[in-house]
Amino acid sequence: MDAREAFRVAFGRAPEGLWSAPGRVNLIGEHTDYNGGLALPIALPQRTYAAASPRADRRLRVVSVQADGLVEVSLDEVGPGRVEGWAAYVAGVPWALERAGFPVPGLDLAIDGRVPLGAGLSSSAALECAVAAAYSDLCVFDLLSTDSGRAQLVSVCRRAENDIAGAPTGGMDQSASLLCRADHALLLDCRDGHTEQVPVDLAAAGLALLVIDTRAHHELVDGQYGARRATCERAAAILGVETLREVADLPAALARLDEDGMRRRVRHVVTEIGRVNDVVVALRAGEYGRVGAIFTASHTSLRDDYEVSCPELDTAVEAAAGAGALGARMTGGGFGGSAIALVPADILPATAEAVRTAFAQQGFREPNCFEVAASAGAGRDE
Ligand code: GLA
Repeated sequence: MDAREAFRVAFGRAPEGLWSAPGRVNLIGEHTDYNGGLALPIALPQRTYAAASPRADRRLRVVSVQADGLVEVSLDEVGPGRVEGWAAYVAGVPWALERAGFPVPGLDLAIDGRVPLGAGLSSSAALECAVAAAYSDLCVFDLLSTDSGRAQLVSVCRRAENDIAGAPTGGMDQSASLLCRADHALLLDCRDGHTEQVPVDLAAAGLALLVIDTRAHHELVDGQYGARRATCERAAAILGVETLREVADLPAALARLDEDGMRRRVRHVVTEIGRVNDVVVALRAGEYGRVGAIFTASHTSLRDDYEVSCPELDTAVEAAAGAGALGARMTGGGFGGSAIALVPADILPATAEAVRTAFAQQGFREPNCFEVAASAGAGRDE
């Protein structure tokens, strides 16, 4: 069943339209967004679909192909901590739209989430952004037709996630889902919101991007993500800068911090921002060997300095490298979720097989391996 069909079954009529928004993988620039840094995500071909019709009242009625039952809530009941589970990512959007000065009605909505759940591929941002895209068109806010309108929707979706779903995430996922274009990576400057489209044509270079969903636990609402964020904020305060993006002299900054853990967190963030710039230069020059080497350096930094990797992610990265990948790294928040590997296209199946074998040897669940290409951001489908 798809979203349109689920809408008809639940509400007994056809929806007014169908919208969708993609999940993402971040090529590089991890845990930099909330530090005012740089990130370089691409949108995935996997998307979340929202079939929707506006209502004359303020009720939100939502069904999902992936969940049983109908969730019904009045927009007046939505607030921090007041909606539970996946529906919070939906209900947070009209709540945040109204707070941004866009009055909205209730909605009948059917969701079909094709972005693997809990895989660190931003299924939650895809859900928020699909709902936001539907509202933008149905209410004629016309925010999808310009980059500045889309950037407004990024803020709305981020607020929905931070305030209503209670996940203190940094905005990269919503930016990717709304601002990415097909065949491009999005160079995102989280200090001033500046974006740049960087062409990515791996196929022309005989390469492919493999996603390895480790199917290991991944939950951003738990404490680890917030703890990393808090450490970065404390470090910035000690260094007298607004965000770690302002750190220009890393050795001097490290010398001023006396906690070893904090020093390593700062070193990751500052070197990772540098790696984003280096990957963009290498991509533009077609130096893919260098791109791969920087990916792997990023993983090492996330594993050892930022300490957000896990045995499944490390195994995925090592097995991919052993099979001939140019480079590999965890992507997204970490503690499970997915890794990416840059591989010669002809060895992609063998690389996936090597990863599966390594997982079996370690007694891990079988990972889900698939190839992705840089795809389009959120929009109207029908
Ligand atoms: C999660 C968050 C993002 C970002 C990444 C780490 O995906 O949602 O905002 O912080 O982790 O780069």
